[in-house]
Amino acid sequence: MKKVDVKSAEQELISKLIFNTITPRPIAWVTTLNENGTVNLAPFSFYNAITTKPPLIFISIGKRKDGSEKDTARNIRRTGEFAINVVTEKFIEQMIESGKDFPPEESEIEKLKIETSPSQIVSPPFIKDVPAALECKTKEILELGSTPMSVIIGEVVYIHYTEDSLSSQKGIIGRLGGKRYTIIEKEITPI
Ligand SMILES: Cc1cc2nc3c(=O)[nH]c(=O)nc-3n(C[C@H](O)[C@H](O)[C@H](O)COP(=O)(O)O)c2cc1C
Repeated sequence: MKKVDVKSAEQELISKLIFNTITPRPIAWVTTLNENGTVNLAPFSFYNAITTKPPLIFISIGKRKDGSEKDTARNIRRTGEFAINVVTEKFIEQMIESGKDFPPEESEIEKLKIETSPSQIVSPPFIKDVPAALECKTKEILELGSTPMSVIIGEVVYIHYTEDSLSSQKGIIGRLGGKRYTIIEKEITPI
């Protein structure tokens, strides 16, 4: 087995190890409102639950190569609101496309022909036909790391879900290392 001391290792290797060892990661497919009122959509896999009472989640958003803020982070900073959509197999291509760079005034929702439903509390809509969507309000934003990354801590204020989503998570997509993904196909319930 190989070993590496983080203090003296190349950053490229550290990043590669983090991406390939902390896996599979859930994907937050996040809808926010752009300044011109259109809907922005992008996937983030540095995402997870923090607490259930109150329900808090985090999403960690890096900067673009030119150092500018990604649209999702900027929109969340401005509006304090976002929705997280659970990604299933049928959305995988649109989800990957939505992770490419779109100009801030252009809506991924319109370009990718994705249908939305109005949210109950927050302004950004959620995606129609996902098994679950979490409406969130920003609780805190931390700037961590040397890049730095914006760690958005959000409070879930409203949840949309299908009855089936409570008994099985089959079909949900997870992020692996590199550009690889996994689809939940097998679930086990140890006795
Ligand atoms: C599956 C997947 C997961 C991603 N996870 C993250 C992430 O956790 N943090 C991040 O900053 N970017 C992540 N990205 C890249 C962003 O989605 C990408 O930079 C996107 O263009 C940001 O869009 P925006 O400018 O509309 O916010 C991910 C991309 C994909 C396809």
